[in-house]
Amino acid sequence: MTTRVLTALDPGVEAQVATAVGGVREATIARRCVDLADLLASAEAGLGDVALVSAGLRGLGRDDVARLAASGARTIALVTGEEDEARVRQLGIAGVVRADASVADLEAALTAGGAEWAAELGLLDDAAGAGVPTPHGAPVVPQQPPAPEPVEGRITAVWGPTGAPGRTTIAVNLAAELAAAGASVILVDADTYGASIAQVLALLDEAPGVAAAARAGDLGTLDLPALSRLAPEVLPRLRVLTGIPRPDRWPEIRAASFEEVLRLSKLLAEHVVVDCGFCLEDDEELSYDTRAPRRNATTLITLESAEQVVVVGSGDPVGLQRLVRASQDLGGIPSGRPLVVVNRVRASAVGADPQARIVEALGRFAGMEDLHLVPEDRETLDRLLLQGRVLAEGAPRSPAREAIRALAARVAPERFGQAETPARRRRHR
Ligand SMILES: Nc1ncnc2c1ncn2[C@@H]1O[C@H](COP(=O)(O)OP(=O)(O)OP(=O)(O)O)[C@@H](O)[C@H]1O
Ligand SMILES: [Mg+2]
Repeated sequence: MTTRVLTALDPGVEAQVATAVGGVREATIARRCVDLADLLASAEAGLGDVALVSAGLRGLGRDDVARLAASGARTIALVTGEEDEARVRQLGIAGVVRADASVADLEAALTAGGAEWAAELGLLDDAAGAGVPTPHGAPVVPQQPPAPEPVEGRITAVWGPTGAPGRTTIAVNLAAELAAAGASVILVDADTYGASIAQVLALLDEAPGVAAAARAGDLGTLDLPALSRLAPEVLPRLRVLTGIPRPDRWPEIRAASFEEVLRLSKLLAEHVVVDCGFCLEDDEELSYDTRAPRRNATTLITLESAEQVVVVGSGDPVGLQRLVRASQDLGGIPSGRPLVVVNRVRASAVGADPQARIVEALGRFAGMEDLHLVPEDRETLDRLLLQGRVLAEGAPRSPAREAIRALAARVAPERFGQAETPARRRRHR
């Protein structure tokens, strides 16, 4: 049977690839699509068995690969190097051809049989489901990776007031330190105002993450294997469930399905570290429509389910004042014990000996003790942001890393060889 190929390729290589496909006896180009929308429409109209795409096809995400599969089109990506290949594999694309492939290689990829197709489906969202028709008509049962053994995880919410005090920086590096210490960790981006973990870790913008998990939760198809596929490991033992790619997509995350995401996250990893949005207002109280989606639901649910809350404030006069108010606001929510972090501590903002000043001021005026201070290190964090790396990888000896490691030791004393004594616990109350 001739394989019908839909292409969506960079204009620079399109003609050359079309000629190469023309040389494959068992394949024919059914349509040259101009963009992703065209490709999806053509696949859904049943025009193709294979979607041959450039690795950098604009907008291509895991959901799209699942949609193509559900329409009976297997996605094959044209890659130029290992980086490209790793990226497209994260999208759940199992079929990969090098851009300089020979006609024979191309033929092998385009006409690959049912086994590879099934393996590819095994990577897909459950929404794509079992019984998806193969290009040859007979349904195949997707090969699912074995379900991870459930564990009893606990949730650490990383929260803080408005003004970008460093919630994401602390959440990402705290999660990385816990994983480096040997714990299994899932880092969840629940910020419905400005999700940024994907960018901070240089993951794909279009990674489906929490939106797809919540949708699967809505559909009742979210289980441990599905969540583990949506939250890939980006470092040893560190899984990431990325946030919504655009803030205006927040209504996609319904409270009930997010609760399910957290419940399963606790079964998937020993530590669930959640990067929260800043806002604590309960949208339900602000609206007469109690069935309407609530933008702050993810943050409120996380705080209410968390065993521990890391409250992050910025070490400057405005940031410190917000931190004090935020801690008071947090008091009105039944949440786990708070660990207070003052981030970006620097003399230029508060004067000489900033650590002592901050400890003194927060202790005297707000009764806040037991603070974790993280120094300002602009140069290092800027560099790591450019590289998409965490402190433990790119600046293991930096004071900021040391401070966040110490915080991790408070979150998981057992992983850092510190038994949590009753005296230590009492100090949090
Ligand atoms: N200790 C630090 N030293 C220097 N820069 C830092 C430090 N912590 C965070 N930053 C920088 O501050 C900026 C804001 O940090 P981050 O994105 O973590 O804040 P946030 O509270 O998550 O903000 P948002 O409100 O956007 O979610 C980033 O550029 C980050 O690199
Ligand atoms: Mg953030």
